[in-house]
Amino acid sequence: MNFNEIAQARQSCRKYDTQRIIEKEKLDAVLETARLAPSACNSQPYHLTVCRGETVKRIARAKNACCEGINDFVADADALIVISEQPVVVAPVMVERMEGQNFRDIDIGILAAYITAEATAQGLGSCIVGLFDDLEIRRICGLDTPVRLLITLGYEREGNTHREKRRKALSELTDQKECD
Ligand SMILES: Cc1cc2nc3c(=O)[nH]c(=O)nc-3n(C[C@H](O)[C@H](O)[C@H](O)COP(=O)(O)O)c2cc1C
Repeated sequence: MNFNEIAQARQSCRKYDTQRIIEKEKLDAVLETARLAPSACNSQPYHLTVCRGETVKRIARAKNACCEGINDFVADADALIVISEQPVVVAPVMVERMEGQNFRDIDIGILAAYITAEATAQGLGSCIVGLFDDLEIRRICGLDTPVRLLITLGYEREGNTHREKRRKALSELTDQKECD
């Protein structure tokens, strides 16, 4: 798959096949691609906690941990990647220049894009989950820094249809400036 094919094929998966387990090689491939994500000053200010089995169930079951009624599908995912913050450590010369900039959020967004793209390339469904209770997830996962995103992973349930993408038209999204 080239990248455009991956982008076309990737969609948020909210229906997982609870009978299928993700093979180790596939999960490793997703994590290895995550490792290669770029970040501001290469600071990689995040940590990935990979939850499986009972931990996923505990997170899904905990009252409102995953925004009940919206993210109930988390319970059916075979794996849940919990992305938490790590300090932004950069060379002293960059500290002042980066002041007031929140590159960590951008870095975590890019990381999520890498993870979901590789999941698609591996034939896996995924969904980025931003609505959750940070403190509850931290408690269950034993983390002491804020949780910023969750990503569900698993095989899509058979018959899950490929939805047409609803996106802005290129003419609305972009414009072009001619160079003089
Ligand atoms: C930062 C972020 C947070 C999101 N949070 C949720 C969420 O909590 N629950 C959910 O079902 N989808 C969530 N999504 C998925 C978006 O709804 C989805 O990407 C968007 O509607 C486009 O659809 P597609 O992913 O199928 O192309 C989130 C996506 C992003 C990028």
